[in-house]
Amino acid sequence: MTGDFPGDRMPEQGLEIERVTPDTFRDHLDGLARLLEVCVVHGAAVNFVVPFSFEESRAFWEEKVRPALTSGSRIVLAAHADGGLAGSVQLDCDTPPNQPHRAEVTKLLVHPDFRRRGIGRALMVEIERQARQMGRTLITLDTASDGAEALYASLGYRNVGVIPSYARHPTEDGYDATTIMYKQI
Ligand SMILES: CC(C)(COP(=O)(O)OP(=O)(O)OC[C@H]1O[C@@H](n2cnc3c(N)ncnc32)[C@H](O)[C@@H]1OP(=O)(O)O)[C@@H](O)C(=O)NCCC(=O)NCCS
Repeated sequence: MTGDFPGDRMPEQGLEIERVTPDTFRDHLDGLARLLEVCVVHGAAVNFVVPFSFEESRAFWEEKVRPALTSGSRIVLAAHADGGLAGSVQLDCDTPPNQPHRAEVTKLLVHPDFRRRGIGRALMVEIERQARQMGRTLITLDTASDGAEALYASLGYRNVGVIPSYARHPTEDGYDATTIMYKQI
């Protein structure tokens, strides 16, 4: 198992990673909505800007994630630690017909109280395993976070470039660049 965790960093004890299914989605909805809300309010650059309410977050999961989960075009993972939802990540497999081998990692989120405990890395290792099972051998993503970029680089993602002024900063005035990354798995 050590080989799955580059840097010999093992995820914390008791961490459980679960694949959310259309049947279990409702049980997870409020927790996932709270996780996204708290991450955005703490400055995560994941498509939203403050003010960002629990209701807006919940609407995102209901209206954007649930249909994709139900159609099978998206995988959602939930990481549980210390009896609560500690993180989540998604794999978007809704690619065009000429890219059946590609998928995009989106919304890697670890609750601020659970960071630097190996949960982000464990979620990425598991989403890659699930991607391989779906025959997706090229993973693409973009990130505006130096911490996330360091995590992805440590897992073997290559940086292909930076797009300046790509998106509004989540909590401040101004625009942030985004870094495009990929990995062949
Ligand atoms: C980015 C994020 C997912 C990392 O989650 P995490 O559980 O804290 O990450 P891990 O503990 O697995 O970190 C693994 C490695 O990634 C790197 N890393 C993670 N966060 C870092 C940070 N803030 N600064 C520098 N390096 C960081 C380190 O190399 C770390 O290893 P180390 O702790 O042994 O030094 C988390 O900070 C987060 O949710 N941020 C807000 C949302 C976000 O930006 N998501 C990415 C969208 S593209």
